[in-house]
Parts: sequence; structure tokens; C-alpha cells
Amino acid sequence: MADYEYVLSSVDGPVGIVTLNRPKQLNALAGPLMRELGEAVEAHDADASIRAIVITGGPTVFAAGADIREMSNATPVDMLARSFSAQWDRIGKVRKPLIAAVAGYALGGGCELAMLCDIIVAGDNARFGQPEINIGLIPGAGGTQRLTRSVGKFVASEMILTGRMLGAEEAFQRGLVARIVPRELIVEEAVRLGKDIASRAPIAVQLAKEAITQAFEGRVDDGIALERKAFYLLFATQDSHEGMRAFIDRRAATYEGR
Ligand code: CAA
Repeated sequence: MADYEYVLSSVDGPVGIVTLNRPKQLNALAGPLMRELGEAVEAHDADASIRAIVITGGPTVFAAGADIREMSNATPVDMLARSFSAQWDRIGKVRKPLIAAVAGYALGGGCELAMLCDIIVAGDNARFGQPEINIGLIPGAGGTQRLTRSVGKFVASEMILTGRMLGAEEAFQRGLVARIVPRELIVEEAVRLGKDIASRAPIAVQLAKEAITQAFEGRVDDGIALERKAFYLLFATQDSHEGMRAFIDRRAATYEGR
């Protein structure tokens, strides 16, 4: 198994498990972590003995979003040049079922990563949110599209425009998560689900995933393209840099509408 710095990769029978492992930064999804995540998930996807893949984080945080420090001085051109979106696309292209096992915070890119999976298992302490508005940004990895399709326009708007988070129970009621289990059991439950899927006909599973993805993501592409342009454009505003700087400096941001 390859050696990674920011993720752990393991196998339990027919289920591959990739664990985000940058706990001091609350698994903030920096470029190097995203590259390793893409590699680890693709390696499981390419392994014929693996039939489902679990992505998980730590007991109190799945992932706190894209790395704000890494983005705080970025221009739109930097974001384009870094191929920020390419790493996310790799996860979206995986053919085997992806199961997110989420305990604690799944915020910003963390929530978007969970929504790139096919099934979300939530611990009782899970909290889902798209709080980018608090730092002068918007979701940039599919959140405006996938959250809206998952929980509906009105709840998604409240979450994206105010940063309000959904707890596990509300996320379950709104259809974002498939089941809630005690936080210490998320990986066990996700692996159990993965093994259940692994006992089914592999080609039927693959084609079912493809068809469901089509139902969910059909026409999302246009929305994603618009979201990406808007997300990158926001790096040209003073407010986004003020918002990110204020987060790092642990102070309230002052927005000027510029
Ligand atoms: N990027 C970089 N560092 C982060 C981070 C992030 N997204 N989230 C947390 N950290 C760091 C903090 O800076 C802090 O580092 P230091 O100890 O070096 O100061 C460390 O992780 C611990 O964080 P906190 O002290 O803030 O922990 P907390 O328990 O008080 O709060 C939290 C937890 C509510 C998750 C809070 O950290 C938070 O609000 N994080 C940011 C969430 C966010 O805005 N996410 C969206 C990012 S933008 C994005 O994701 C764009 C996109 O769509 C792809």
C-alpha cells in the first residue's frame, strides 16, 4: 500500500478505506491532501478485489473545508493555475460506490466531498454546512448544485447564505444522510454497507451507480461551470481576502462590498 502523508489507506475485505489525516488543521483540504486523496481513491477504484470505498475523517471532524490559509492570498488566476477543481473531478469519476463516513464537522469542501460520495453515513455528532459566506466566498466544489439538489432550494439557500449548519438528525430528515449511528461506529457501519454492496453483482452495481449519478448530476455540469467561475471571480474581491484573513487572525471580518 502506498505511503501517504495526509491520508491513510487500508482495506477491510472487499472495502477500501481512505481516512483524511491532517487533524491539527481539522483535515482542511489543502492541495497536497486532495492529490493524495485522489490517488488513494483511484488506487482502490483500479483494484479488482475492492468493490466499495469508504472515505472518512476523524471522530470530531470529517473535514473543515478547503484550506483557507492556502487560498488567503490567491488571485483567480492562481486558483485556475493550481487546478483546484481537477482534484475534485477525480473523486467524481470513481466508478465504484463511495461511502462517506462523517463524524463531526463536514464544512465547505468537507460537505462537498461527502456529497460527491454515493451514500453518507453520519455519526450522531455530524454537522453539515457551507459556511463560505462567512469568509466572503461561496461554495466552490459543487455545493451550490449538490446541496440544492439534496435538501431543496429553500434549506440550501438558508445554509449557503447564512452559513447555518445541519445537525445529523436534520440532515437525515432532509435526505442528505442515509443513516445515523453512534459516532464511534461510523466506519464499522460504512464498511458493513460496503460489504453488503460487495456481495451484489459488480456490473449491476457499477451501472446502477452510473444511472443514479446521471439522475442526480444531469445538467449539474452547467451549474458547476457557473459556480467555478463565480468562486474564482470572488478571489478578485477585497472582501474575500478580508474574510479569509479575519478567519486566520481570529477576528470579525469587515466587508465593504468591494
Ligand atoms: N482551512 C485552514 N485551516 C483551518 C480550516 C480551514 N478550512 N479550518 C480550521 N482550520 C485550522 C484553524 O486555523 C486552526 O489552526 P491553528 O490552530 O493553527 O490556528 C485549527 O484548524 C483549529 O481550528 P479552530 O481553532 O477554528 O477550531 P474550532 O474547534 O474553534 O472551530 C470550526 C472549528 C468551526 C470547524 C472552525 O475551524 C471553522 O469555522 N473552520 C472553517 C470552516 C470554513 O469556513 N470552511 C469553508 C472553507 S472554504 C471552502 O471550503 C471552499 C470550497 O467550497 C471548496
